Order: sequence, then structure tokens, then C-alpha cells
Amino acid sequence: MKPVRKAVFPVAGLGTRFLPATKSIPKEMLTIVDKPLIQYAVEEAREAGVEQMIFVTGRGKDALEDHFDIAYELEAVMRGRGKSLEALDSTRSIPGSIVSVRQQEPLGLGHAVWCAREIVGDEPFAVLLPDDLMWGKPGCLRQMVDAYERVGGNIICAQQVAREKTSSYGIITPGRSDGALTEVKGLVEKPKPEEAPSTLGVVGRYILQPEVMRVLDRQESGAGGEIQLTDAMAALIGTQPFHGLTVDAVRYDCGDKAGFVTANIALALERADVGPSVRAFIADLG
Ligand code: G1P
Repeated sequence: MKPVRKAVFPVAGLGTRFLPATKSIPKEMLTIVDKPLIQYAVEEAREAGVEQMIFVTGRGKDALEDHFDIAYELEAVMRGRGKSLEALDSTRSIPGSIVSVRQQEPLGLGHAVWCAREIVGDEPFAVLLPDDLMWGKPGCLRQMVDAYERVGGNIICAQQVAREKTSSYGIITPGRSDGALTEVKGLVEKPKPEEAPSTLGVVGRYILQPEVMRVLDRQESGAGGEIQLTDAMAALIGTQPFHGLTVDAVRYDCGDKAGFVTANIALALERADVGPSVRAFIADLG
């Protein structure tokens, strides 16, 4: 079984839901406390053993690459002032470990993943959607890689969603369950509540076999007229092992304003530096 060494981060979206904040900065650079969303996702991938991060990016998104580069002037000034560079440690990357390709047109998540096909090559790979901040120990992708090492094939992160919310998610037709692993018998993108096969939703973490790229080569559009990753994955069911993993992690939907603010409060409360003042402020609210 080949190890998961590569991860694809679809980050070409315009982030219109977060305007005006995202007019001139990528939505993935929005911060939860003091760290941009993209960095949480990259750190999660590193913890899971991923060596190469593939950003599927677009125009106006250079800040994402700059963030993992060496900020030479900044470091020189900080050194000159005798300041610690520790806060920059996790933004450093081994040369060559961050690669980017462009998605020239917004044709859907499946299309974004397909844009990385030449770099992914013939290997299993992870996909992380940075909008879904997954907060767990070990991290969500680490838990998925551990399961992958046992059962192989394709593994998607699964969580129960409210019946009235099925039209926001890929939804799984579940088969047999074994602990946290559930066999995936079918997948449908954003079904209406009355048509959803279950309330087991797909959240933004995937471990996929390279054959999914051959399905995406067909460029078939699905729900919303977009080329959907969910449809391409569905075509692999029955040809390869396919499981949903219920991870031990909290999901913050940072593509949504309320979810984004919630993530900021929740993660701030866990921090030794800012937690006490935020907790005191909340207590004062009564
Ligand atoms: C995407 C996927 C969907 C998945 C969701 C998780 O949808 O297409 O299957 O359930 O991410 O966040 P999006 O949120 O980009 O519309």
C-alpha cells in the first residue's frame, strides 16, 4: 500500500461570502485567533505525514504562497531588534514542499482537484478544504491516515448533519459499520432533505486513490452545473474499498460567518495567552 505523501488544497475560491474582508486578501488567509485558516490545514497535513502540499490557486491568491515562504526583510528586522522568530516557525517549509497550480476557471471542486493531476501522479493523495477547520488530537487527517493504513482504498471524513442541511453536503449511502468506519455504498452531492439517502455527510477531508483523476478527466458536470468531486468518487464505489470515517474532532465551518466567529471563540478559550480574558468577557455577558 502506497503511503499518503501528497495533499491537495483547493484554494482558488473568491470568498464572496466574506466580502468586504476578502476583497484583496484570500479567504484562506482569514485568521482564527492569530493563524490563517490555510496554516491550520497545512499543519494538519504535516502531522499526518504529508510531504508535499499542492495549492490549487488562482489570480490574487499570492499571499498563500508568500505565507509559507521566508519573509527575509521581516526576519532581518526582527533579528535586529532581538525579537524571537518562534511565531514564524510553522510557516517555514522545506524548499519544494509547497507547489501550486492554477485553476483558471471556477468549474467546481472536482475540477479544482483535477487541476493537480500531473503533480499527484500515480499515488494516493489527501484533499483538505481549509474552510472546514477540523480540531482534534491527533488531527483529523492523522486519524484518517491511521484508518487508511488498516483498510486502504478511499476514505472520506463523515459526520452526521441535520436533515434540513443535507443540501449543503455530499451525503453517504451507508453500508456496514465497524467502529468508526462505515462502508460507503453510494454518494450524492447536495440532495434535498426528502431525497437524501441518510444524514451522514461528507466533510472537507479525503484520502483518494489516483484513479479518481481518470473519472475527472471526463469533465462531467453534476449538481449546480459544477464538476463535482462527489460524483467522481461515486464512480469508484465497487471498484475500490471506500469508507467513511467518523473522526474524533470538532468541525468548525469557517466558510460560514457564524462558524468562523465560533471557531475564533472556541480556539481562543483554549489558549493560555488570550483564553482568560475572553472567558472573563463571556462571563460578564451573563
Ligand atoms: C464541498 C463538497 C461537499 C462537502 C462539503 C464539505 O461543498 O462538494 O460534498 O460535503 O464541501 O464542507 P462546498 O461546501 O464547497 O459547497
